[in-house]
Amino acid sequence: MSGEPMNEPSSAEAPGRSPGRSEVGSPTSSDAGPVIATRRLTKRYGGQLAVDGLDLSVPAGSVFGFLGPNGSGKTTTIRMLMGLIEPTSGTAHVLGRPMPRSTRAVLPQVGALIEGPALYGFLSGRDNLLRYDAADPTADPRTRRARVAAALERVGLVAASGKKAKAYSLGMKQRLGLAAALLQPRRLLVLDEPTNGLDPQGMREIRTLVRELASDGTTVFLSSHLLDEIEQVCTHAAVMNRGRLVVQGAVAELAAGAHGRLVVSTPDPVDAARVLKEQGVADVAVEGERVTGAPPARDLAEVNAALVTAGVRVRGFTLERASLEDAFVALTGEGFDVAG
Ligand SMILES: Nc1ncnc2c1ncn2[C@@H]1O[C@H](COP(=O)(O)OP(=O)(O)O)[C@@H](O)[C@H]1O
Ligand SMILES: [Mg+2]
Repeated sequence: MSGEPMNEPSSAEAPGRSPGRSEVGSPTSSDAGPVIATRRLTKRYGGQLAVDGLDLSVPAGSVFGFLGPNGSGKTTTIRMLMGLIEPTSGTAHVLGRPMPRSTRAVLPQVGALIEGPALYGFLSGRDNLLRYDAADPTADPRTRRARVAAALERVGLVAASGKKAKAYSLGMKQRLGLAAALLQPRRLLVLDEPTNGLDPQGMREIRTLVRELASDGTTVFLSSHLLDEIEQVCTHAAVMNRGRLVVQGAVAELAAGAHGRLVVSTPDPVDAARVLKEQGVADVAVEGERVTGAPPARDLAEVNAALVTAGVRVRGFTLERASLEDAFVALTGEGFDVAG
């Protein structure tokens, strides 16, 4: 699957999303084409390929999930995109310009949060942001306080802004890091595992914030090892495994590419499993009173009728929608193991 834009899920409500292009790289223009485009991007550490021949295409206006188990090369890729490390080979363009060569021109337009924000614990949240803003030579000192106040407001830290950062919870620290990334209007936000270590409430807050930012037209590129997370907030995704791209595209399209599972609830699971196999259902599995399998090509009404005819008592007969996880398993033949 290519980075071709596809229909968005109806729940994704980011306006201003232009139909992007599937061609990778457009070095002559910073306004057309994908916001991030890599070609055969590779990083080798000793004998290990941390990132292996990556072709990534991130459409403008997307909320792009960069998904993969721990150790799959997400942070290494982000470091190369931000010009923090040099690729071993291959190219990366961000906002149409080559990295790391154009780091100085590109980074002011990009808000980034990589592996936890660097904060001064002894300073208040507000003073951290004032200091951060002061380090930006393009930031007008006369409007500094207003900028900081707006960023604090945006991430919901106004009430805690006078507290020392070391007294912040992990979620508050993440939000402060996001506030720093939001001091200036950005065309692109790059967030490396922004919900890592957060409790469910903190994760919800970050998700809401990401949706709000995207609805302003900012392209958001966020990495995660949590499939769920990506399905809930992203319009597009790329899936990494062992440094390689498994697939990329619109989230709805990726999940649709994998077949759902037929699920039968019954107090007669053994008989149900037998009948389902006879009906051409592959990969039949029994878990208690739940029998699942790969849906056959034939009409499911007939499959259901065959169960009933065979005396199987059917409580439920459904086709479960495929998730990104199903897609991952189908594509790699591996479970999505987050324990790395
Ligand atoms: N500076 C480094 N030196 C050596 N190996 C590294 C370095 N950074 C990352 N790696 C290795 O590259 C692989 C990918 O790491 P990383 O990009 O951090 O993955 P992720 O962010 O998906 O968890 C891992 O096997 C990791 O151990
Ligand atoms: Mg990482």
